[in-house]
Amino acid sequence: MKVKGKVIWITGASSGIGEAVAYALAKKGAKLILSARRKTELERVKSSCPADTQKHIELLPLDLAQSDTLKLMTEAAIQLFGHIDMLINNGGISQRSLAAETSPEVDRKLMEVNYFGTIALTKYLLPLMIDRKQGHIAVVSSLVGKFGSPYRSGYAASKHALHGFFDSLRAELYKDNIKVTMVCPGFIKTNVSVNALTETGDALNKMDDAQANGMAADVFANKMVKALENERNEVYIGGKEKYGVYLKRLFPNLFAKILRKAKVR
Ligand SMILES: NC(=O)c1ccc[n+]([C@@H]2O[C@H](COP(=O)([O-])OP(=O)(O)OC[C@H]3O[C@@H](n4cnc5c(N)ncnc54)[C@H](OP(=O)(O)O)[C@@H]3O)[C@@H](O)[C@H]2O)c1
Repeated sequence: MKVKGKVIWITGASSGIGEAVAYALAKKGAKLILSARRKTELERVKSSCPADTQKHIELLPLDLAQSDTLKLMTEAAIQLFGHIDMLINNGGISQRSLAAETSPEVDRKLMEVNYFGTIALTKYLLPLMIDRKQGHIAVVSSLVGKFGSPYRSGYAASKHALHGFFDSLRAELYKDNIKVTMVCPGFIKTNVSVNALTETGDALNKMDDAQANGMAADVFANKMVKALENERNEVYIGGKEKYGVYLKRLFPNLFAKILRKAKVR
């Protein structure tokens, strides 16, 4: 599906990957609904889009952790353009802490934002897509949604959960002409590690070397938009870390040994 003229709702659009995807889609002529918690940052992103595209961009601040608000938010999103062609579930938070030292509340927070918030928006939007017999749900997971790695136990769990849910959904919705694309980034240069939760639930407030040296967000966004237009089921985008997916599949014991020594923090 070409994105030109399509109505696309992006969560986590106030920074990083979501911001870069918003710019890439605006340039291609999509109509956008931008969501995240920080309204002022959404306004900044909108005003950084090409001037002639801004009349096709609406803002809808929301908090993925506030599950009781998400039905109303979805109804409000649909009202903005009358329908939605694609939902890009991108908003999320990461983690940098050892499992043994991390409070269970942190695990719940990660699941609430990354998993429950994401599937709630999706579920509230599905009746419209099923009625229209068309739609596309994209999910920004992670390579850590394919293999767990140190310091990210709760985050890896939340991203793995997304794969289970959305693989099932893809099979269920094939008959309704609704596509599901799982996007798995490797190390992308954003504030994801700065905002990552530590063992107490406070933000790390530090840029990891892996992110600082990672793929630029605009390069990532162009590859992601191409994968969406090609209606890929699942795509891995990043540097050589993406080969971990294949290494785990083909040589699981070797991969387990490599992971023990991985410098991922
Ligand atoms: N960068 C990487 O290397 C990498 C790798 C793998 C996967 N990812 C995934 O990519 C996605 C985007 O992350 P990023 O790298 O762009 O990091 P980021 O710059 O920290 O962006 C995260 C986005 O999610 C939003 N968000 C966080 N908590 C939210 C909540 N409770 N409700 C609504 N929105 C919320 C943030 O906006 P507000 O703060 O304004 O709410 C922000 O727009 C995430 O799902 C992340 O797990 C990133």
